[in-house]
Amino acid sequence: MTGDGDVCQDPDVNAIPMILDCDPGHDDAIAIIAAAHHAELLGITTVAGNAPLERTTFNACVVRDLLGDPSLTVHSGAARPLVAPPRPAAHIHGESGLDGADLPEPVRGADGDDAVSFIIETCRAREGTWLVPIGPFTNVAMALRAAPDLGRRLAGISVMGGGTFGNRTACAEFNIWADPHAADIVFGYGGPLVMAPLDLTFQLQATAPRIEAVRDVGGVLAPVLADLLTFFSGTYLGRNEGIDGAPVHDPCAVLALTHPHLFERAPRHVVVETYGEHTAGMTVIDRRRLRERPPANTDVLVSLDADAVWQLIVDAIASRA
Ligand code: BDR
Ligand code: CA
Repeated sequence: MTGDGDVCQDPDVNAIPMILDCDPGHDDAIAIIAAAHHAELLGITTVAGNAPLERTTFNACVVRDLLGDPSLTVHSGAARPLVAPPRPAAHIHGESGLDGADLPEPVRGADGDDAVSFIIETCRAREGTWLVPIGPFTNVAMALRAAPDLGRRLAGISVMGGGTFGNRTACAEFNIWADPHAADIVFGYGGPLVMAPLDLTFQLQATAPRIEAVRDVGGVLAPVLADLLTFFSGTYLGRNEGIDGAPVHDPCAVLALTHPHLFERAPRHVVVETYGEHTAGMTVIDRRRLRERPPANTDVLVSLDADAVWQLIVDAIASRA
């Protein structure tokens, strides 16, 4: 591995309790499957992001069915960002948010429509839970605001978002850009924070051989996921130079918790630009060596063992085959 941080040496794999806050989304679907296998997934909350809320919730329910785990609950949350207008990402994920495969109607819909209360109540009942927002951070920010005790009850928050470059604008990554005010609240909450930025997630690309490794798992789930990944990679390959497949962003925020020895991280002070003609949604990552720089508030993930992380994804899929 490369980068400028310390490698976590702990090879233990723990069943980390977490709530996944998501906007499925192709890579969100992979993150749900990874969390269901490698973590203790306490529930899924949905937010408007890649697609409108109704659709991201529908998609989360479809993924639950594909997993074959009816005990997993889905709770819908914010239909729009705190301040910014909703701006979905159909150019990446298609109009449905999960274009590229023939998906059945979900067997049942969401189990609740109050993600914020679900987050607060679950984290109060189970201290030491991780919140893992992998869409715009609206639900998590609202929960932190509504329950001032929440921050100290959490093990931490592990986000997919931000980076030293952007994908939605030159300097803004989609999840932060979509709701910069929510991201500002999360980066300022004061507890442990892990960040999977674009710099990291572009190291985990769904190359053709990796997609084939998924398809080779067989069964019902794997071919659907291989089709979804093929579509997702297609949109990225059509829009980006110098990549071999779509960066599979969202599972990184999950697997960095469950398999920390596969990731390298660096402590940094990170803030979010909430306004600015060219910079709204930018994460400003302080890499200065100046002694008077602000103290780190974030563990920024800087590199990963991509083949090993992909194998974890394949293992998670195979566990449901
Ligand atoms: C993030 O935006 C979405 O398109 C993905 O699901 C991921 O969470 C990457 O910028
Ligand atoms: Ca996402």
